[in-house]
Amino acid sequence: MQDPILRLESSHVDVVIKTRPFAEIIYWGPHLQYFSPHDAHTLSRPVANGRLDVDSPVTLMAELGHGLFGSPGIEGHRQGLDGSPVFTTTHVQQRQDTLTITAEDAHAGLRLTSELALDASGVVVIRHGLTNLKAQAWQVDRFAVTLPVAERAREVMAFHGRWIREFQPHRVKLEHDAFVIENRRGRTSHEHFPALIAGTSSFSEMHGDVWGVHLGWSGNHRLRAEAKTDGRRYLQAEALYLPGEMALEEGETLWTPRLYASYSAQGLNGMSQQFHRYLRDNIIRFPENKPRPVHLNTWEGIYFNHDPDYIMRMADEAAALGVERFIIDDGWFKGRNDDRRALGDWYLDEEKYPHGLTPVINHVKQLGMEFGIWLEPEMINPDSDLYRAHPDWVLALPGYTQATGRHQLVLNLNIPQVFNYLVERMSWLLGEHAIDYVKWDMNRELVQPGHRGKAAADAQTHRFYRLLDVLGERFPHIEFESCSSGGGRIDYDVLTRSHRFWASDNNDALERSTIQRGMSYFFPPEVMGAHIGHHKCHATFRQHSIEFRGLTALFGHMGLELDPLTVDKHEREGYRRYTALHKQWREVIHHGTQWRVEMPDASTQVLGMVSEDKKQGLFIVSQLAMADYTLMMPLRMPGLEAGAQYHISLLDHPNIRLTGEGGHTMRTLPAWMETPQTASGEWLMQAGVALPILDPETAILIGVERV
Ligand code: GLA
Repeated sequence: MQDPILRLESSHVDVVIKTRPFAEIIYWGPHLQYFSPHDAHTLSRPVANGRLDVDSPVTLMAELGHGLFGSPGIEGHRQGLDGSPVFTTTHVQQRQDTLTITAEDAHAGLRLTSELALDASGVVVIRHGLTNLKAQAWQVDRFAVTLPVAERAREVMAFHGRWIREFQPHRVKLEHDAFVIENRRGRTSHEHFPALIAGTSSFSEMHGDVWGVHLGWSGNHRLRAEAKTDGRRYLQAEALYLPGEMALEEGETLWTPRLYASYSAQGLNGMSQQFHRYLRDNIIRFPENKPRPVHLNTWEGIYFNHDPDYIMRMADEAAALGVERFIIDDGWFKGRNDDRRALGDWYLDEEKYPHGLTPVINHVKQLGMEFGIWLEPEMINPDSDLYRAHPDWVLALPGYTQATGRHQLVLNLNIPQVFNYLVERMSWLLGEHAIDYVKWDMNRELVQPGHRGKAAADAQTHRFYRLLDVLGERFPHIEFESCSSGGGRIDYDVLTRSHRFWASDNNDALERSTIQRGMSYFFPPEVMGAHIGHHKCHATFRQHSIEFRGLTALFGHMGLELDPLTVDKHEREGYRRYTALHKQWREVIHHGTQWRVEMPDASTQVLGMVSEDKKQGLFIVSQLAMADYTLMMPLRMPGLEAGAQYHISLLDHPNIRLTGEGGHTMRTLPAWMETPQTASGEWLMQAGVALPILDPETAILIGVERV
């Protein structure tokens, strides 16, 4: 018989699994150079007094029936019966980097299939399938992926947020009991990004062991980090089912969403770099392998005021500024003059566009740009022809009046006619117009989502995936952006079928600095939409210089979100300058290794991108508030080649002026800013470069190039 101890290994991360009689992950940590399955026996635990007389393993399915006492990975029943399954392994198959373990509980009539894969990036991907083997339905209340982490994980980092303030990290101690994230909003949500990072005490960007997980799922979810009373710890993640939502008929299989897990001994940067590499190698698929085109999106420029002549003038200006993709946002379809009506009526507004969309599209294309358009297929306004004709197409429970959100309701994609209507309308739009890009929006949460009287949030999410898949297959050349009032639907599963995220409706460069940093823990810059917004931010009314806004947008998939016809020359010159700078560096930004650099002063935020061959590095230093100290501390630049010499240059700065007695901050600049300077990679990594003294809400951009 096969050795029950198996290992998945990569160059820097290993997972060791005891497969029989019950499957149990016994190690997830650094790659083991001298591993022998025999070693695993050192971990066999004592049995403590005052509790069960046997050892209780944290098995792959974390069954309560083993005496786990914590949060189990499975809960459900068959009309009250078969409610405490315990699975025994029946079959194990290891193929290269993937392990499939089949287990059964013959009493409960359930089969469990667990898939564990370790990618070369170091990311582990796990999912479970549950099959009902008996005639009567098995009601699934919970079905989770549980992943033990080492006992030295003492802290947890998670993300909170809200509309216009996504991806805000916070930390809690993991010493006793559990920390839980629950999302019932029916989309990935701004509020509860489905991720948890456990780590050793005070783990940081560069230091500490960290175990980060992300649940790839765009619906309701629950994540949990738990310290058991015996000191063992685990992370758990699942799709959250509403009461009665999930039942398995005989022979049916339910799969958990995939859990993506990244362990690093080098702190958060190492964890993120592995996630980024995993996504680049496995998930991000652009229809065409080309540089990410710079966008102009019309939303904050003109909102619902669509006049084709004016839009074409905007396009002229956009092209002159270096924009490569022009996107018409909300407001192009029949009767859509404000956000109170017309969602669902996916016909062109012929009053606004009497000659159709084609002249505008042709104009955009003649200017050498791609053309994109906004859609929100899953939604319906009560004030729409579609609703008047089919009030029963709404995702709802009969007998209740559901609250609207942004004056809209959700279409029930589980109704075949609804699904087909959307496929037909979208196919008309995308098939009969030369469209290269779709901004796919989703602007409200699911409240009482129901289909045939039963909860249907999970099914709705699957139907959304299906709709996007059908359209993606039909129009494989089109790129899709996942937007949901900004960053409400950002996760790995939606990314398997889309190409970009709209990170936030907040274009305030100060807010964006933290939002984008939060997002960077799990996503690389090339899928993060980052736009230069209006001088006076529409979300916060804060005002920022074009330099701060331009540099902040530089580190994503860049674009403009404004009307370039209504601004002064200085602003416009700025758009041109940052677009050009982005293009000059986007190869590094979109393919390089990302480093979040910790500075002694928390008000200074630094992000670096270093090209894979380490020939070029780009560092943005953002001063978010008044600095704590008189001098800013030297910037140590990680990720360079120690033995190489680098030329350091200041690529952009916010009019740093030496104002002498004028009362400003600085009398002389750091020497390297005045006279050209080179230094070794080692020196730059260990000692660094002195920074100029920056004003609050400004940024500078420093480049290094190998001599
Ligand atoms: C949402 C999006 C915005 C914009 C509007 C249009 O709020 O996040 O970017 O597209 O919808 O209504």
